[in-house]
Amino acid sequence: MIMRKVLLTATLAATCWAGVAQAAMKPDDAIVARKAVMRVIGLNFGPLGAMVKGKVPFNQEVFKANTQRLKLVSEMPVEKYFPKGSETGKGTTVTQDVWNEWDEFEEGLKKWRMELSKLADVAQSGDEAAMRKQFAATAKTCKGCHDDFREKK
Ligand code: HEC
Repeated sequence: MIMRKVLLTATLAATCWAGVAQAAMKPDDAIVARKAVMRVIGLNFGPLGAMVKGKVPFNQEVFKANTQRLKLVSEMPVEKYFPKGSETGKGTTVTQDVWNEWDEFEEGLKKWRMELSKLADVAQSGDEAAMRKQFAATAKTCKGCHDDFREKK
């Protein structure tokens, strides 16, 4: 009897958690979340661009640290920050195309994660030429997605 109660409680708790995990985010919260992730990505990616373009001296340590952070942040469930209903509001710059072409958008996120993961690996090798090359490949995924899924300025 006690055992059954424990089991029932455990099952209920698990069901509740699953419910919480699956509930779509509120549109405004989702917009804040995705902008925050992108902002952190930009803060870490920007300095690498400055190095690659020769605006600041190449710094292996910064390159390594930033690419580790980029890889980790990109693993956040960004897909969840685009619930239906978050097409407008809170200063979002997203376009409706995200939802019209969801598969393509998701593919873009996958590719982005893959390239950032490679970038973190290459940074560990310390091979500057390879780091520059992989930076360019990664930057293409940013630009590609922004061109397709953000409002043109
Ligand atoms: C698969 C799509 C996708 C990829 C890949 C992507 N972004 Fe974004 N990014 C977006 C979208 C969509 C927005 C607009 C979010 C909004 O306004 O709601 C955005 C917004 C931004 C912003 C503005 C954030 C703000 O404060 O409003 C920055 C900075 C940014 N991205 C940097 C990057 C960088 C750097 C990369 C590559 C390393 C990258 N993004 C890759 C989709 C993407």
